[in-house]
Amino acid sequence: MNPTTPPSDHDLESLSREVRLLGDALGRVIAKLEGSEVLSLEEEIRSLAKASRSGEAGAADFLGAAVAKLSPDLAYEMAMAFTSYFELVNLAEENYRIRLLRSRRSRQLESGLVPRASIEAALVELKAQGVSPEEMQRIVDKLHITLVVTAHPTEAKRRTILVKLRRLAQLLRDQTESSLARTADWLASLEREIASLWLTDRSRTERPQVLDEVRTGLWFFDSTLWEVLPDLEAEMARVLSRHYPTVRPPRRWISFGSWIGGDRDGNPSVTFDVTAEGLVLHRRLALSKIAGGLDQLSHLLTISTRRDPSATELLDLFSRRERLILHRNRLGLRYPNEPYRLFLAALREEVIQEENHARASDLLDLFGPRPEPDLTLGNLSHALDAVEAALEKGRAPFLAGGDLLRLRRQLQTFGLHMAALDIRQHSRVHEQALDEILALLGRVEGYARCNEGQKQELLSSLLAEPPIVDLHRLWDRCGPASRDILGSLLTVSRAQALYGNECVGAYVISMTRELSDILEVLLLCRLTRADLSIAPLVETLSDLAAAPEILRSLFDHPAYRPHLERHGKEQIVMLGYSDSNKDCGYLAASWWLYKAQDAIVEVCRRYGVSPILFHGRGGTIARGGGPAAQAILAQPCGLIEGKIRITEQGEVLSTRYHDPDLAFRILQQICYGVLTGIHASSSRPPLPARWTDAMEEIAAQSVPLYQGLVRDDPAFLRFWREATPIDELRLLNIGSRPALRSRSDTLEELRAIPWVFSWMQSRFVVPGWYGMGALASFCAGSPQKLGLLQEMYEGWPFFRTTLDNAQQSLAKADMNIAARYASLVQDLEIRERIFSRIRSEYDRSVQQVLAICRIGALLDREPILQRSIRLRNPYVDPLNYIQVEMLRRLRSLDSGQKDEERPLRRVIELTINGISAGLRNTG
Ligand code: PGA
Repeated sequence: MNPTTPPSDHDLESLSREVRLLGDALGRVIAKLEGSEVLSLEEEIRSLAKASRSGEAGAADFLGAAVAKLSPDLAYEMAMAFTSYFELVNLAEENYRIRLLRSRRSRQLESGLVPRASIEAALVELKAQGVSPEEMQRIVDKLHITLVVTAHPTEAKRRTILVKLRRLAQLLRDQTESSLARTADWLASLEREIASLWLTDRSRTERPQVLDEVRTGLWFFDSTLWEVLPDLEAEMARVLSRHYPTVRPPRRWISFGSWIGGDRDGNPSVTFDVTAEGLVLHRRLALSKIAGGLDQLSHLLTISTRRDPSATELLDLFSRRERLILHRNRLGLRYPNEPYRLFLAALREEVIQEENHARASDLLDLFGPRPEPDLTLGNLSHALDAVEAALEKGRAPFLAGGDLLRLRRQLQTFGLHMAALDIRQHSRVHEQALDEILALLGRVEGYARCNEGQKQELLSSLLAEPPIVDLHRLWDRCGPASRDILGSLLTVSRAQALYGNECVGAYVISMTRELSDILEVLLLCRLTRADLSIAPLVETLSDLAAAPEILRSLFDHPAYRPHLERHGKEQIVMLGYSDSNKDCGYLAASWWLYKAQDAIVEVCRRYGVSPILFHGRGGTIARGGGPAAQAILAQPCGLIEGKIRITEQGEVLSTRYHDPDLAFRILQQICYGVLTGIHASSSRPPLPARWTDAMEEIAAQSVPLYQGLVRDDPAFLRFWREATPIDELRLLNIGSRPALRSRSDTLEELRAIPWVFSWMQSRFVVPGWYGMGALASFCAGSPQKLGLLQEMYEGWPFFRTTLDNAQQSLAKADMNIAARYASLVQDLEIRERIFSRIRSEYDRSVQQVLAICRIGALLDREPILQRSIRLRNPYVDPLNYIQVEMLRRLRSLDSGQKDEERPLRRVIELTINGISAGLRNTG
């Protein structure tokens, strides 16, 4: 195959070479395994796609005709060729980026140059803006970033494929780094790896289990984050000492959370025993990493009392810890003169014992005794502090840096649990559970049928009473649904008692609509003695609008105040980017999210509460994706107290965090956004009213535009079902979670991810831009209004980011390809009416965006991405053509034709993988 070369502003030559090398090797593998006719067919399809893209008359029809002739087997081979090609190109691009990052980092360290969008860049910018050392101290002292990983099933690739690609990446690195470059042996190894990739199925035969997902999530901690984080902390210390030498580096300013194994909303597989198993996996991994670190240290700190008598001080510590004494008696014979080694080895044994004892059955002994934990984060940190203090008094105080400092940093960031597990459940599930529980307690029959006022009254009176009763007895009488809720909280409560409070994060309430939704969870926590922060998740237009009022009544509620006090007067509020988008469209959702943040922060300020906005962002633009730092800086108001929570999900997790250099880079970008954002949050001037008024008007026009299509046109859902592969996506074994929240098969119950995924595959990309036409309606021939929007684009980061991100969606959308999908819609009237509506909105949106951004073509200011999309298109097109053709055949089958159905589905699944790899986006 011939290569496409994604551009870059740096030396592209090595990347082009690598892509060509991989493309050629793939071509040879195809010829060897499938025969030269298959390779020629693929070449023919590729050149037709290229001709069609360059506007050659009739080429699209020829391409369509060539694809229509393919048998399912041949279609599979073609789809595999283009899918494998994209997998290899993505790999080459990533390798190139890693090489670039490494060489830049070493050059920067040598030359003292400041890397763009990094911690250092933030300090330099802030210094230039006149931030004094005292202010900087305040900024870093309040800084806290929590990244929350989720299993949101947007990673279409199997783990097997990810591992194979990693092996290939390593092989490529060997090639560039060693003098054995391109020897015959090396090329043979490359072909072997590609052949094995070629012969491997891309889709899973079964849905992954939740615990598989937990292990996958933890893999990123084990393989990259554990080592990258101390580097990041060291970078923070280094650049502070360079630019603000008097400022003390902050402690524990970044930490991790996870939803995997705790996010129960719409996922019946996340039972409370799974949550318990998940918590144990977290603990075991953290303890084994700590044990590894202690082992390494014990081999390093072999300081003899004969050479450095100060070390003897450490021995005192043993006398205070019984378990350590046992180890000392045993190990002391081996290292009689090496107290550091003795101490660290004993500590390691203690940690290993704790790891071996971590069992889900202990957490699931819900009503069992709660012994005080032997090993806590506090006593382990204290032990390492003692080692540091002893070293500092000794002959080589600098030994306290290096590995010891690394381990102390790791302990601070990851604790004994790696990432704190959040729990999430839908508000209506709590309501249903309380309906039963309150009836069993003899308080009310039919709680779920009460109105909001009655619910609040009842909950308030229950919360004012002393906590109940015999919970065990209640548990015995509960049905499975209520037990499930109580069980999850009892597991949390037990884990907090046995492992320490910090092993869990927040309790997230999906679809928080009213105050009672939060009071219900408060009551359930009270019943079960679970003590986690309660985080309402607001995710529809009306919920975003209602959020400030709900918070006001919450902060006024007498039962909530002690809870807030216990949680440091911090309130987490989660913002749902994708569901708000699904509800009212990209443009209006962006604006409502913006306004809601301002209003939430204002309510918190009035009540002296510290807000922590939790951004539920996914990878695609429609789900709040886009460049991390820009997203933060587009609206820094939530950073007023320095704290932020952000989700890192599915595909994003695997593209950003599987490699240490990439992970380091993205973390630097996030830190840059947050550090500069903290300052901007307190220093930003008020926005001109003409900007906010304009935005208000545009958003108000955008909602009916979007909802008029998606909700109000009765034929729209039919159009969507027929013109996109939504039904096929729902059958894919991507994640443990079903595509629908509940059994009812409606758009409301469909998760946002498959919704976005289906539009992305079919190149309509509706959720990423539809509704932008409101910008055109706003201007409607008025040069002044266009001028106003241009001024907003230049001067308002929010507006600029919203439009720049929309450009990405508009550029990935393709109405010619979408037209092929529309041709799948049986009813001609519906097909033409809805497609022409989408198409004309698309054209109108593009024209308007170009005019506002003052550019000639989409992404003119992002030439790398622009070129990458242009170069990739001719390779994605055949996959789209094949997908449409197979969907057409599949839908024309009778229900009994199972044998014909299977091979078609197989091809469709492969094209879904291939298109995702080509567009670098799933849902
Ligand atoms: P949810 O997430 O379906 O779990 O609410 C949506 C998303 O992350 O885009």
